[in-house]
Amino acid sequence: CGGNQSPAAKVLKVGAEATFPPFEFQEENSKEYVGFDVDIMKAIGKQMGMEVQIVNTGFDGLIPALEGSQIDAIASAMTITDERAKKVNFSKPYYKSGLSIVVKSDNVTINNFKELEGKRIAVQIGTTGAEAVKKIKDAKVREYNSASEAYLELKADGADAVVNDLPVNEYYLAKGGSKDAKLVGEVLNAEEYGIAVAKKDTELAGKINKALDEIKQNGEYAKIYEQWFGK
Ligand code: ARG
Repeated sequence: CGGNQSPAAKVLKVGAEATFPPFEFQEENSKEYVGFDVDIMKAIGKQMGMEVQIVNTGFDGLIPALEGSQIDAIASAMTITDERAKKVNFSKPYYKSGLSIVVKSDNVTINNFKELEGKRIAVQIGTTGAEAVKKIKDAKVREYNSASEAYLELKADGADAVVNDLPVNEYYLAKGGSKDAKLVGEVLNAEEYGIAVAKKDTELAGKINKALDEIKQNGEYAKIYEQWFGK
């Protein structure tokens, strides 16, 4: 490299647990990282003149990776919580979400969160879903590294229910899961996703918030939202 070419754009390393469609996942053939979060981060990167590189990381390893400076930011459908905010700097919320329940289509005993008492519940490790179900009386909580493993466990009757983010449950059902599973009950917890950066990285946090405002103003955010969630 070198010569009189313009310098390569700086790279922003973004951690994501990339088996969480439609937010972050790998395209089947190309293995490219795609999804709502990936597009939002690319749009933010463009505003900041930075190139975004996705670093696929276990969900419970994301905050440690940020603290250890292996990544610069997290965009992984991560809910803004007080507990996490003690360790990271969250951007303004960029997506509204909540938790919901998926059970087998023929299940008639679980119709809401109350009826999860005493049941076997599959969740992704380290998530708000895992936290929520641990508070349910006598629940037998089974934690998996990915949401897809939790759905597989339900399919194999190793669990009575999966508790996960509503849009991810909806996507799973829409992409074939509805053949033998369904959504039941209310949506729990109003949750909001935020982009996280290290506590000390206040400058980067400011730039990300500014870029988020810009892509909302210039229509890019709406375009990406429509692409992933439009009917
Ligand atoms: N919103 C939930 C949380 O913050 C689940 C996020 C899981 N994200 C992922 N990419 N696997 O705990």
